[in-house]
This record gives sequence, C-alpha cells and structure tokens, in this order.
Amino acid sequence: MSRFAIGEHDFLLDGEPFRVLAGALHYFRVHPDQWRDRIRKARAMGLNTIETYIAWNAHAPRRGEFRLDGGLDLGRFLDDVAAEGMHAIVRPGPYICAEWDNGGLPAWLFRDGAGVRRSEPRYLDAVREYYAQIAPVLVPRQIDAGGPIILMQVENEYGAFGDDAAYLREVADLTRAIGITVPLTTVDQPTDEMLAAGGLPDLHRTGSFGSRATERLATLRRHQPTGPLMCSEFWCGWFDSWGEHHHTTSAEDSARELDDLLAAGASVNIYMFHGGTNFGFTNGANDKGRYIPIITSYDYDAPLDETGHPTAKYRAFRDVIAKYAPVPDEEPAAVRPDAPVFDVALDRALSLWDGLELLGAETSVDHLPTIDELDHFGEFTLYRATRPIEAPGVLAFHEVRDRAQVFLDRKPVGVLSRDHGERRIALPHGGVLELLVEDQGRVNYGPRLGEPTGLIGPATLDGAPIDAWEAAPLTWERLDELADRASAHGSAAHAGPGVAFGMFDAPAGRDLLLDTSGWGKGVVWVNGFCLGRFWSRGPQRTMYVPGPVVRETGNRIAVLELHAGEAVARFVAQPDLGHTEL
Ligand code: GLA
Repeated sequence: MSRFAIGEHDFLLDGEPFRVLAGALHYFRVHPDQWRDRIRKARAMGLNTIETYIAWNAHAPRRGEFRLDGGLDLGRFLDDVAAEGMHAIVRPGPYICAEWDNGGLPAWLFRDGAGVRRSEPRYLDAVREYYAQIAPVLVPRQIDAGGPIILMQVENEYGAFGDDAAYLREVADLTRAIGITVPLTTVDQPTDEMLAAGGLPDLHRTGSFGSRATERLATLRRHQPTGPLMCSEFWCGWFDSWGEHHHTTSAEDSARELDDLLAAGASVNIYMFHGGTNFGFTNGANDKGRYIPIITSYDYDAPLDETGHPTAKYRAFRDVIAKYAPVPDEEPAAVRPDAPVFDVALDRALSLWDGLELLGAETSVDHLPTIDELDHFGEFTLYRATRPIEAPGVLAFHEVRDRAQVFLDRKPVGVLSRDHGERRIALPHGGVLELLVEDQGRVNYGPRLGEPTGLIGPATLDGAPIDAWEAAPLTWERLDELADRASAHGSAAHAGPGVAFGMFDAPAGRDLLLDTSGWGKGVVWVNGFCLGRFWSRGPQRTMYVPGPVVRETGNRIAVLELHAGEAVARFVAQPDLGHTEL
C-alpha cells in the first residue's frame, strides 16, 4: 500500500517528494465510453493525476435516491483513472460551482428553506446523507487502500461566499468521519480575505488562478506557511455564456504561466484539461446583477477540445511539462478528423399542444407556484391561468425565472426574459393565458445560489391579482410516444413550440457535429441521449454528438423547437463554437 502525505516542503508519496501534475476532467461532462481515451490523453500530455468534482445533484435527482449508473458511475471512472496508471483528486463539494446547475446542490434541498453553505441543521443533515452515499465509492479507492485517490477537497472557494468557519469544520469532520484518510485541501482565489475565510488551519490551502502565478503563489504562501504550493485550478481557458463571444486564451501565454508555476516548484491542477459538454439540462448560470446562463459546450478552450482532440495548447503544455517531468513518447494525433457531412430531413413533427398529456400532468393551485413548489426541478413547466383573461391589459409578475413564452388561445404573444429584466407584457386581447416557462439553468455562483425558479408571484393583470393557476411540469421521458404520434409534414420549416423528428444512418461510433444555425431555441436528442440546448443567439453554432450514441442504422434525432427553424438537421465536418472577441 502506498501513502500520500503533506510534508514540510512537498507532497510526499511513500516519503518521497512528489509534484502533482493534474488535469481536471469531469466524468459527468464526458460520455462514459470515452473516459479511458480522455484519461490516456492526459497521461500523454505528461500529467500524473486526474481531478474531478462530484456533482451531487446529478446523482440525487430526488431525496433518498442516489444514482451511480451509466455516466454517473464514479467508481468506474476512478477505476479507469487507476487503470491508466494515474492518481486521482476528488472534490465532492458539497458545493462545486463549475458552471453546473445550482453549483451541484440539489434544488430539492432548498424547498423547505434549508440554509445554503452554512451550518444550518437541515442543510447539514442532507450533506451527511450525501457523504454516506459517496463513502462506499471513495473510501476503498484511496491510495492507502490501493486505489488512485491522493487528495480530497473540502467545499469550494468558500472564502468567496461566506465566513462560517463552523460549517467548514463540519464538512471537514464529516469527510474524516466517513473514512477519508488522504490529506484534505481547500481552494480559494488568492486574495488575503478569501484565503483567510475559506480555510482552516488543519486543511491545506491552495489557490485558483490563471495568470500572475509568481505574485499569486506569494499571497498563498502568506496563508500557507509550510508545505507544497499548489494551484488547484490553473484556469487555462474560460467558459462561455449565451449571447457572449466564445472565450479563447493564447496557448503561448497560458504555457508561459504554466512554466512560471512549475519553475516555482508548485503543483498544479489544469482547469480544465478537457471540459466536455453540459449534456441534457445540466448547465448553470451566473447572476452578478444580470442573469446569464452557461452554454451547452464546456470546451473551455482547454488543451483537449470538446471533441477529445489535442489543440495547440495541448502541445505547448506538453513541451512545458517535459522541462520538469518525464513525458511519455506516445502523442495523440494532432489533427481533428472531419466528421461525416450529411443532412437529415425532419419530416415528422408534433406540436407541443398535441403532445401535452405525454409530457406532464396538470396540478391545480390557488396561487402561482414556483417550479420548486411543484416538486418538479425540471426545465420546462406550462402555466395556465384557470380563468380566461377577459380583456387586453398588462400582465406582470414579481420575477420571471428564467424565460416565459406567453400564449393567448395558444397563439404566441411574446417572451419575458430574465436576462433582459423583463416582467411585464401587454396582452393585446383576452383569451386563455398560458406561459411555457424554461428554467435555463440555476445560478452556480454567489448569493442567488439555491433560489427557487419558475414564475415568481404575485401575478397581476392591470394591477388586479390573478390567483387561480394550473401548472403542468413537463418531462421528456416519453419521446418515443411523441415520435409515434408525430405526423408527416413536407414543409421546409418547423414552427414551434413542438418536436420534429428525423431518421438517419451513420458510421457507427463516429462523433458527429450538428449545425444549429438554422434553428431558433430548443433542445436536441439523438437516440434518446439529450445533447443539450441550442439557441440562435450563440456563440455556439454546432453541438457535439459523442460517437458512442451513434448507430449504423435507425438513428433518431428529435428537435424541440420553441420558436421557428428549418425542418432539416445538418451534420457538419468541424465544430463552430462561435465568434471570439478578437
Ligand atoms: C472557480 C470555481 C470553478 C469554476 C471556475 C470558473 O474557480 O471553483 O468551479 O467555476 O471558477 O470556470
């Protein structure tokens, strides 16, 4: 059995100084059949460790349930890391930020008012349950039990959120109580305030930053007087948000920063080594005064791109690492091959209104419920005012989270968007009022973490309350039945809201890239696997279809279009993540 420890100056592996050269790779953002390939490519870049967060809410869609199957098989992921001869760092949160829905915290946790990231009994009880659920996966996979795990992190950049030291103490003690024996760390942005508030004396402090390494390491040293210096999130790229440009950073500059870090003797975790994709409805959002949801791609301009191919940054980092550590001879192919190019007619379609009872059941309520009150925590909810509106007027809500399409007698009237601060709309006439509300991703950073979503009341018409509502939480589990009910249509266009379907053959197991530039806003599935959301406002113009979901024949694509699009799915050769700033 090996041992991993924190020494006076270095990490110690079986008593010998050891530099951690880690790369972040989130198992929940990569198809499980591609984990091995991505891990192997990390080793080929010269890394010796894979770091992952654990996304609590992905495992626990409902309280009491804890899924470890398919893409959530964390044990398999860690075994893949070990099989590739790599070590592992695990960051279970409970809060992870990570541009992930609610920063990884399950939305059900806050339904009854549990505290957020503080020593509040209901919150801590749930965290205790979660730690009991991950213990059987993690404890036997620690290095001193023969597994790959060498380090574990407590919370995440807590100094940027709060200063409840008793809470950090609870999480650290809980980590030990479930049987974690490897050294524990914290991470904070390198300011004196955050480093002071985000750590405890017995947890090893590390920093998160992507530039000015020498200065940041000096700040960290003031708060961590002994032991190895570590940048636990070396930001070598950045995430993208809808409506903004695609972020890129220069490979040369980033490699120079990495060189500075390594020259100073520091350990590193490259965030991200490979970002992957926010498949399904897993993206988070920021709200620093304006709500801005994260896009589907989590390419991050990382060394390994979203499709799993090395970039110029990969080669630049590999060269830097080679100055300090042995790098294997094997090097992955430098050129991304073209993906198969073909078009698929979306020749069957079903209006949302004609499939409603396959999507969800209605609940009558006497007030306007949040989505959380419906115990839904899903992405789409249809609200209907029980009594028809009688005359034109101004419809207003306290807040719309996050986007509501407004219909009168099932004809579109307009959209209320949280990111525009909109909460009032003029209704041109009376009729049955319905709102199709999308949760575009819960906030993952800052004070709005954990807030409920949906329509936030009161709802009024010309100032008079509208208090009788029906709400239908919508789910997409019955796509097959929706497809059976869809009817043939020969139109070149697809009018939403509704789902359009097409069938296609393709080289089995080959990655595909779906061009979304002919569509408005919506969601795509291939063979029932949800690729995520698309939106004409960009920046991303293509979506990644992982090879393992593609079959030789009989593939079905389903496109939920909320507005209007072309009735064709175009597969293209290369990804297009959109315009950059320069
Ligand atoms: C912080 C968080 C990460 C991530 C990055 C930005 O460092 O700790 O989870 O959100 O910011 O990508």
